[in-house]
Amino acid sequence: AGIPLTVLPEVDSTNRWLRARGSGGPEMVIAERQTGGRGRLDRGWASPPGGIYLSVAWSFEALESGPAGLGLLVSLHLAETLRALGATRVGVKWPNDVMHEGAKLAGILCELSGDPMGRCTVVVGTGINWRADLVGPLEPGREAAGVADILPAPPPRPGLAGQLAAAVLEACQAYPDGFAPALRERWPALDTLAGRRITLQLANRIVTGEVQGVDETGALILRTAQGLERHLSGDTRVLPS
Ligand code: BTN
Repeated sequence: AGIPLTVLPEVDSTNRWLRARGSGGPEMVIAERQTGGRGRLDRGWASPPGGIYLSVAWSFEALESGPAGLGLLVSLHLAETLRALGATRVGVKWPNDVMHEGAKLAGILCELSGDPMGRCTVVVGTGINWRADLVGPLEPGREAAGVADILPAPPPRPGLAGQLAAAVLEACQAYPDGFAPALRERWPALDTLAGRRITLQLANRIVTGEVQGVDETGALILRTAQGLERHLSGDTRVLPS
């Protein structure tokens, strides 16, 4: 896709860099490493050389599912691209992680400027680990995976970065018309949480239940002792089965 691309050897955070430009997009930046990579929920994102750190600025007429919904679609497109490259055990973990056998391969941070019910801009940041041992330990119970460890024949890093960047752009282009059909028809096959017992950390409480899937708005459907619950955000942890 012919959109402006900046490649930086080093930056604090590609998301912050693009937001500081105030660009309405479409525009993309890729960094070789980040010194202050940011994750969801105020976490950091370890960004050693080798990993792929990319951010896309994109404007929407409206973003009714919110930035988190867009993140679902991006994670789905990334997982499908990696599977097409031969990483057949890659899946998605609501809300927007790309996983390989319980370990996190990639994460997405979508940051919104403006009102999601009207014209707005989102910076979609994607971090993809290259090798798990370079990332270092995450929090206890959270493991990392790397693309170089799991692809049968890892393509050269620039080619791979290009394919993953294309997946992010396709997801932005597919929104909003492709959103509900993708969640209905493609998400279930890659959903690593379906049928699993999890805890969901909400702003002020934790709920436990069995994941039934996601609905067409991107909400997680959880069967709890109180019945079916629908949640639009939160942090999930899989309980041992
Ligand atoms: C998460 O899983 O918590 C989201 C991680 C997102 C990391 C990417 S790396 C490129 C972009 N720049 C950042 O500072 N963060 C995102």
